Amino acid sequence: MTKVKRIGILTAGGDSPGLNAAIRAVGKAALDRGIKVIGFRDGFRGLVENQAIPLDKAALAGILTIGGTILGTGRDKPHRMSVDGESQDMTGVIAENYRLNRLDALVCLGGGGTHKNALRLVDKGLSVITLPKTIDNDIALTETSIGFDTSMGIATEAIDRLHSTAHSHHRIIVAEVMGHRAGWLALGAGIAGGADVILVPEIPYDVEQIAEAIRRRSRFGTSFSIVAVAEGAVSAKDGKAYAAAAGRKQRAKGQLERRRAAMALIRLDARHSGNTMRLSRELEQLTGLEARVTILGYVQRGGAPSATDRLLATQLGTHCVELLEQREFGMMVAVQGGVTVPVPIRDVAGKVKLIPADHPWLESARRVSTCLGV
Ligand code: F6P
Repeated sequence: MTKVKRIGILTAGGDSPGLNAAIRAVGKAALDRGIKVIGFRDGFRGLVENQAIPLDKAALAGILTIGGTILGTGRDKPHRMSVDGESQDMTGVIAENYRLNRLDALVCLGGGGTHKNALRLVDKGLSVITLPKTIDNDIALTETSIGFDTSMGIATEAIDRLHSTAHSHHRIIVAEVMGHRAGWLALGAGIAGGADVILVPEIPYDVEQIAEAIRRRSRFGTSFSIVAVAEGAVSAKDGKAYAAAAGRKQRAKGQLERRRAAMALIRLDARHSGNTMRLSRELEQLTGLEARVTILGYVQRGGAPSATDRLLATQLGTHCVELLEQREFGMMVAVQGGVTVPVPIRDVAGKVKLIPADHPWLESARRVSTCLGV
């Protein structure tokens, strides 16, 4: 078996706490085995532009606790990258630079988009291993991902703090939580922070049911409510429109039909961008209570990783180096049953892990009388 001597590493997609801990884990474990490590800046663009930096012992020192990524990140797709104002397929250039740098393998740290991009490089013949990273916790075949625990902690603390101000002013506070099209972050932080209403994309809501839950609290003497709403949560009506457009796109025969369905989805997304504000106004009208909106936003992705994320990043990163040594490529290091295991990138790419209807967190939320919008 040819020994792996040089590897590249990059971080792609949205940043998340714990990325540096993972870079450090891969780097230190690799250096320990005599493997040279080269970092590429700003995601896949760094490989296209050959923006490489050697990751030696000094470069890896002191980064365990730091938020963001020392390598920088980006959302560029290798097969559709904007170069000189034009969208171009750069997978060939990436393969060329991979060889120019005499890499034996490439480690990509990322979420859903990164896994689709990593698979394209696998299909181009590159030896790739990925680590799951996203605050959204929506990567298929892994129980968790780097960044989720920290973000859930930040969102929980925010919901905690909103209680005293909502209580003092007898208001509804609608707190928008990130998560893209999945509700893990809102559900986890909502339960941990004691939100009275939790809305997730997996359960399209009925605003009248939410209003009734808030009115019921008022009847029992509690004149404030906290609503944790996932950024991707939709009303039942909008949920149906999304499902119809997505179905039309999937069934579309010709290009024109596909483009029309894609346009319908874009229009729905544009309407969705004001959803939390709209929901807040509707709740004011339906309950007679004053409502305010707090969009937690990027603060959920910032700052130092939690102990759990540092530990996870270190376990995933060091397992990655074992796979590199065994030349077990085309794999994502996942967490299953609480332990790290390799799963094929091909089985992960293009899939989204949503909250299943029978998930125990949903059951727990219902048992403490949390309104889930239905
Ligand atoms: O995927 C992580 C995430 O923070 C999502 O929760 C959010 O929808 C998205 O990234 C925001 O993307 P961007 O950083 O490109 O604005």
